[in-house]
Amino acid sequence: MKRVVIALALLLAPLIASAESDAPAAAAASAKLDPFTGADPAAGASKAAVCYACHGPGGNGGVNPAWPKLAGQHSSYIYEQLSAFKCGTLPADQRTAAKCSDVRVNAIMAGQVANLSDDDMRALGAYFATQKPVPGLGDKATAALGDKLYRAGDASRGLPACAACHGPSGAGNSAAQFPRVSGQNTIYVATELKDYRTCAANNFQNCDRGGVGKAQMMSTVASKLTDAEIDALAAYLTGLN
Ligand code: HEC
Ligand code: HEC
Repeated sequence: MKRVVIALALLLAPLIASAESDAPAAAAASAKLDPFTGADPAAGASKAAVCYACHGPGGNGGVNPAWPKLAGQHSSYIYEQLSAFKCGTLPADQRTAAKCSDVRVNAIMAGQVANLSDDDMRALGAYFATQKPVPGLGDKATAALGDKLYRAGDASRGLPACAACHGPSGAGNSAAQFPRVSGQNTIYVATELKDYRTCAANNFQNCDRGGVGKAQMMSTVASKLTDAEIDALAAYLTGLN
């Protein structure tokens, strides 16, 4: 009887071994591809370690409050922004030929995107979108003003509600590439809103951010905000979740 079991085991061994060696391939084939970038989040994970130095482990920040969190941000938006940083390194007269739908100028990120391929940028977007965002601490003193502007805007001066595009909980919208803004670092948000505002004040020329396409929408919105309102909104968004 013992012999039969051993013989059976020997007979089955190659089958079991081949089933095992097929397992990773099968898992990869059935891995969930991100629907917006078509990329495998696992491929992005293997390229993301370099990003943690500034964006924190898993993209949840904590290194420098002036630098954004990426965890839970939409894959489509991350991919778009990485492409925009690449476009930001091109001279203005080459951007049309490069089909730049968004342009963002930042010296630090310019160095980071230089060696990323289109596939890398898609995979990084897919990966950070799967990371769970950890909410930050808001600022109670200014939360009321931030909350009011975020939810209702101010019709008397044509300021739309932020929630109309970024959603009631600040989660944004993948399909429209409206970014998640909840839980984001206060200093970072305030800096971006001021960059968008400066862009509108410059008639959408020579912008660090907000001069092209859909980003112009955000510049137009920011052009209506005072410094105090920007600070209140930035602190409010950090605590929103
Ligand atoms: C040396 C620090 C540093 C490293 C490393 C770095 N980043 Fe950044 N990243 C920044 C800074 C600073 C900004 C804000 C730029 C601005 O204000 O326009 C930023 C912004 C971004 C944004 C825009 C976020 C938003 O909410 O709009 C994305 C996306 C991004 N980084 C992705 C990456 C990825 C992916 C990597 C790794 C391949 C990476 N970064 C590595 C510093 C860094
Ligand atoms: C009409 C739609 C719309 C409205 C209304 C709107 N936004 Fe935006 N917002 C956008 C889009 C689109 C972007 C991305 C633009 C880009 O590509 O740079 C954006 C980007 C941002 C960013 C940058 C996020 C990041 O991670 O870098 C912040 C912060 C922001 N919006 C805050 C606000 C606030 C606060 C309000 C209300 C005062 C507001 N938005 C109203 C569409 C909108």
